[in-house]
Amino acid sequence: IEDRLRELRELRRRALEGGGPERARRQRERGKLLARERIEALLDPGSFQEIGWLVSTRGSLFGLDRSRVPGDGVVAGLGRIGGRPVYIFAQDFTVMGGSIGEMHAEKIVRTIELAVKSGVPVIGLWDSGGARIQEGVAALHGVGRILNAIVQASGVVPQISLVLGPAAGGAAYAPALMDFTIVVDGITYMFVTGPDVVREVTGEEVDFESLGGARVHSGRSGVAHFRAGSEEEAFETTRRLLSYLPDNNQAPLPIADTGDPVDREDPELDAIVPPDPVKPYDVREVLARVFDTGSLLEVQAEWGPSIVTAFARLGGIPVCVVASQPLVMSGAIDIDASCKAARFVRFCDAFNLPIVTFVDVPGYMPGTSQEHGGIIRHGAKMLYAYAEATVPKITVVLRKAYGGAYIAMGSRSMGADLVLAWPTAEIAVLGAEAAVRILYRRQLAAAENPEELRRRLTEEYRRTFLNPYRAAELGLVDDVIEPRETRKKLYNALSVLLGKREQRPRRKHGNIPL
Ligand code: COA
Repeated sequence: IEDRLRELRELRRRALEGGGPERARRQRERGKLLARERIEALLDPGSFQEIGWLVSTRGSLFGLDRSRVPGDGVVAGLGRIGGRPVYIFAQDFTVMGGSIGEMHAEKIVRTIELAVKSGVPVIGLWDSGGARIQEGVAALHGVGRILNAIVQASGVVPQISLVLGPAAGGAAYAPALMDFTIVVDGITYMFVTGPDVVREVTGEEVDFESLGGARVHSGRSGVAHFRAGSEEEAFETTRRLLSYLPDNNQAPLPIADTGDPVDREDPELDAIVPPDPVKPYDVREVLARVFDTGSLLEVQAEWGPSIVTAFARLGGIPVCVVASQPLVMSGAIDIDASCKAARFVRFCDAFNLPIVTFVDVPGYMPGTSQEHGGIIRHGAKMLYAYAEATVPKITVVLRKAYGGAYIAMGSRSMGADLVLAWPTAEIAVLGAEAAVRILYRRQLAAAENPEELRRRLTEEYRRTFLNPYRAAELGLVDDVIEPRETRKKLYNALSVLLGKREQRPRRKHGNIPL
């Protein structure tokens, strides 16, 4: 047995070396950790158990038969985060640039499939030059198998991607197909075609960073959900994110004791909405005061910022928050904000997380760039997502709730289970000035003193429509509350609505406008 043990230990030592000291040095020079270091840093200490470390390439062309490819360039296994089980894989850039060969792909697919069978989240750490060129179509098939496995797991277990190096070509779609993508300044590069090909095809001169760096994807493309300044920060975000998520789509929500009393009133809330209807305020301040102290985790904070999407806790219960942000474009919904809110709502619905919506929305964003960009098609996603969601849906109207945007932001017509309004709420088809302009165009044109008439009519419209009481009379608002009571009222409703059951007719799947 001694010989056998020695042999095993030697094999293990060589596997742990990955691409060897020289390539490890290059990896560090690029400011990146090694694959196993990443896993150790992310998981609970000592909890990682590796599988498939003896796997190697089956390829034989272009010198592959003479190459040593430890683990085929990916480290995989299971472990724990905050005591809860996860499956994880990390591409090893020191082994053939983390390129995806047939067996490399097989390991990733198997990890995802095991996560689905076990009903636990899967975390992918991507750092790869894409499909392994020497393996040709077998490598492409492998990339495709990974993408397919991610789609099959979607909505069954949470899937989180950390892009800690390049994710190029078809392989860039792997993180994109998972639920959340975390990128890191200076080391993440995601693109379908790299700078060289871009130059050849379009003549554009662009470097890695401005083509597909972390900021591009967190702020412009909307591909990323979180941007971190370092790998350690990305791991911390991952651990935090997971703390809100159930293990799978049938598992109970992870309830935590946050120590924040559920009946806490906050008189400061009464004064947050400014009396002047065009004055902005930061909705994040409302959220910070309503939800458990320190529990807010914003998702896609840098993209589509006229809507805030966030995880939070209320009395320890994890919830999803969608909120108009009056600080940005007065909270008007544009294409990016629609897509962001729709995707978030669908994720939350898939994993049984209740949705709490805060409304202060003047409408959809006007303009040719929005109309020609397809705001009708993209805005439709949000309507679809809300109407489709069967989780508890609670809405709080803070101020403006106008027109089509009122409908989209978790209105009763989209199936809200409870709609609360602050006394500052204004629920109407249009704002006062616009409404008067349209309704009284002829009268105003003929009036001797149009300014005086406009002022009087606007005032009358304001008094009649710009309050929550019309909607309450029609039962479209269930309760008009004092802002300070918001937390208490929300918790009471949420704790009961957690038992909500809603069955829909069976269908293969709906046809969300894409
Ligand atoms: N297939 C096989 N080997 C690959 C590879 C791939 N797709 N991508 C990278 N490698 C290898 C390199 O040959 C190199 O090997 P070596 O250590 O033996 O010299 C190693 O990985 C590191 O790559 P290198 O190019 O030195 O790293 P870099 O940081 O300068 O550049 C990339 C990284 C990803 C930008 C660059 O490697 C690249 O463009 N790769 C190809 C991307 C691509 O188009 N893939 C196909 C997509 S489907």
